[in-house]
Amino acid sequence: MFFIRPATDEDNKELLELEKLCPQGTGLVLQFDRSPDFFCRSRTYDSYNIYIAQGEGKTIGTIASTVRNFNLNGKRTIGVYIYDLRVHPDHRGRGIGSELIQHVIDRSGEVQVAYAIIAEDNYSSLALFKKMGFQKTHDFVLLNIPLYRRQRSEPHEMRTITNHDAPQVVKLINEHYRNHDFFSPLTATAFLNKAKKLLGYGLDKIHVATVGSRITGCLGLWDCSGVFRARALRVSTKLKMLSYLLSFINVFESTMRLPSVGEPFRVMYARDFAFTEDISSTEALVEQSLQLAHGYGCNFLSFPLDSQDPVIAVLTKYKPIRTTYHIHAKSLTSEPLAKPTTIYVDPADL
Ligand SMILES: CC(C)(COP(=O)(O)OP(=O)(O)OC[C@H]1O[C@@H](n2cnc3c(N)ncnc32)[C@H](O)[C@@H]1OP(=O)(O)O)[C@@H](O)C(=O)NCCC(=O)NCCS
Repeated sequence: MFFIRPATDEDNKELLELEKLCPQGTGLVLQFDRSPDFFCRSRTYDSYNIYIAQGEGKTIGTIASTVRNFNLNGKRTIGVYIYDLRVHPDHRGRGIGSELIQHVIDRSGEVQVAYAIIAEDNYSSLALFKKMGFQKTHDFVLLNIPLYRRQRSEPHEMRTITNHDAPQVVKLINEHYRNHDFFSPLTATAFLNKAKKLLGYGLDKIHVATVGSRITGCLGLWDCSGVFRARALRVSTKLKMLSYLLSFINVFESTMRLPSVGEPFRVMYARDFAFTEDISSTEALVEQSLQLAHGYGCNFLSFPLDSQDPVIAVLTKYKPIRTTYHIHAKSLTSEPLAKPTTIYVDPADL
């Protein structure tokens, strides 16, 4: 028997333990550590709700949600994003996950759609959301580029941004993602607030490429290690082969080394990534960002991108390890879900 209640700060310790007990994936199995603050991830959102399934006096499940306003198939939509669903391994298969999802939906107010992000190899979660009436609407990829000391590329005009650049950067980002589902157009104030509020981010981590006084590209590096850290409990065959290849290359030159099983690894996420048609400024920004992320001591720089994004062709030469995610969504009105278009992904949602 269990009941569901809102989480409080006192639940932090048990939630951190539950998170460690719920690794995700099948080929590549990842365990996440959110210590010291489980709630830190949610605090990046303007508002959120976290619920706990409690049974036998213990935390045996949790779920979180945030209501937001975004573009969906060309229309402004209010939706609830469901995340951080976890059920203790000893209590699975008893309907707790289903009840937690229903609990969130029942309390989301006047929202038109509910959605979640699920890794393509998270079969139990895919089956669960399907059973709850969700359907696959979008795909996106996470291109995880392994980092090592690279040859310096040609110098380009690049610099970190200041408050004064915000209107121009925001215009670039809004233009770039204008037709993307789940994108919410930014204001300069909202952009600056987010950059300052997100732990491991900030104006000093956002670079722009310029031509004269014109900003032609923008790329931010978010260090997520203050929010969570990952370790691989099992490594996919592809990653294993890459490790062998790198240990061979390392004999001759670079300092690249992929983490082995059980070892924590550090990831930086690319965000606020937007550019004009000038592909060369994009390539230079990417090149510089890879060097910077390596300088921060990270093993990977990860780009969440729509599966059809043309920039994938630019990134492929850096030999990314590609993981695919699905959005599963459910209409909460009588309107069926519209045909999906290109998707925008905020790495803070992953
Ligand atoms: C995914 C998870 C939340 C499911 O929780 P749960 O309490 O076991 O789910 P339920 O008992 O409500 O299952 C409902 C349905 O989901 C599907 N399902 C759940 N676990 C499954 C599994 N291991 N294999 C196949 N289908 C599964 C089934 O359709 C099930 O219905 P059934 O029991 O009638 O067959 C749980 O396995 C978990 O915490 N996993 C690790 C964390 C995670 O992956 N979270 C989701 C991130 S998107």
